[in-house]
Amino acid sequence: MTTLNIVILAAGRGQRMHSDKPKVLHCLAGRPLLQHVLDTAVQFGTGITCVVYGHGGEAVPQAMAQYEANFVLQEPQLGTGHAVQQALRHLNDDSFTLVLYGDVPLIQLGTLEKMLVTQPALTLLTIHLDNPTGYGRIVRDSAGNVKCIVEEKDATAEQRAIHEVNTGILVAPTHLLRNWLSKLRNENSQFEYYLTDIVGMAVMQGVAVHTVQPAHAWEVAGVNSKAQLAELERIWQHEQAHQLLVKGVTLADPARLDVRGKLVCERDVEIDVGCIFEGDVYLGNGVRVGAYSVIKNTRIGTNTYIEPFSHIDQVKIGDNCRIGPYARLRPGSKLHNEVHIGNFVEVKNSEIAASSKANHLSYIGDSSVGSRVNIGAGTITCNYDGANKHRTIIEDDVFIGSNTQLVAPVKIGRGATIGAGSTITSDAPEGELTLSRAKQITLPGWRRPRKKNNMP
Ligand code: UD1
Ligand code: CA
Repeated sequence: MTTLNIVILAAGRGQRMHSDKPKVLHCLAGRPLLQHVLDTAVQFGTGITCVVYGHGGEAVPQAMAQYEANFVLQEPQLGTGHAVQQALRHLNDDSFTLVLYGDVPLIQLGTLEKMLVTQPALTLLTIHLDNPTGYGRIVRDSAGNVKCIVEEKDATAEQRAIHEVNTGILVAPTHLLRNWLSKLRNENSQFEYYLTDIVGMAVMQGVAVHTVQPAHAWEVAGVNSKAQLAELERIWQHEQAHQLLVKGVTLADPARLDVRGKLVCERDVEIDVGCIFEGDVYLGNGVRVGAYSVIKNTRIGTNTYIEPFSHIDQVKIGDNCRIGPYARLRPGSKLHNEVHIGNFVEVKNSEIAASSKANHLSYIGDSSVGSRVNIGAGTITCNYDGANKHRTIIEDDVFIGSNTQLVAPVKIGRGATIGAGSTITSDAPEGELTLSRAKQITLPGWRRPRKKNNMP
């Protein structure tokens, strides 16, 4: 395919969202509506993409600054035809223009590709609806050829009975589109410049008008209210869950899974209820994820078990690890194979080598932990002095007794043992027992104080 012009209309008010945020910046599956459309547009490769924005001002181009698109302001907003006119100066006449909508987020590449096959005509994406109320109707002649699109507000009773409706998405040869748009008039019930009026013009000129239907109705569903947003979110989550099931992932309940990004699963992965996956998550062969875990931008190796209620963000986890329940793994952490992280353990920006364990109630921050280390319950790395962060180094085969504070910067040498309840402020030598605590004493004959009886 040669280059394609894509115009995304995103200037509308979104009044029914009852929000100060522009409608197209509300999120579906963790991404703004407009971002879904841009991510689909990007898949066409080279070409020109224009986003027509208006309501909400610069917030829209600012939020989408990572895309190589032209942002054109439509002010005031005089209709869908007027919106496309604003983008014309950026479009290349030698290729086609595809019109998409920032509030129709789930349009799929496959459907758009079907529309491009019917070039060089004007191609409309249409759908048959049981209840066509509110949509522009596709009017055909007795031979079944498209004659025009008539908006609901301008339609006769007979036209309103038509169930084939305009989704708004269309493809046209750019030079023809430019010519048609220059002739638009706003003589209709809404005094708007309707993009849909180009269909009648094409028919008058004898340009073929084709129609294509989307593979799924949800691809062309628009978002106008929070209720529609929530409904489309569920449809999309159901669709993603279904795709995982088809690939062999075990889901305890496909209705209780949320994927807000890209989840890649190898074979024999099992996911319990209530889990949320964000960004890019990779689960290796045989990974099991326990109920109500939240996992973001993370890679998990073969046969690792994430127990329930674990929270994992930007972490690399090796094979055969056991994490949680109630573990919190924070950005910049790397766990090698066979590591165990238990309940109420927080790990931040730390590397933990193979077969090491921190099973209960610990904070491990800015640390390098060797292999076969045992970190006792309640161990805390004191990484922050109030101004700067410092590292803790724990070498291979160390045993840290329970309720120990390691005040960084500090290094615990290979094979060292730290006695329980110690506050370690300087390096502990290899292979030795180091401890810092007051000697235990007993005071013979000591009595507990008694309540005085001198109150009035
Ligand atoms: C439009 C179509 C209608 C179709 C329906 C599908 C026209 C005249 N009608 O009607 O045939 O069935 O969509 O939902 O095209 N927009 C702008 N600038 C404007 C006006 C609109 O950017 O000046 C954007 C809106 O943000 C929205 C989209 O275009 O994303 C559609 O606008 P809307 O006013 O909702 O059109 P409808 O009346 O629903
Ligand atoms: Ca609409």
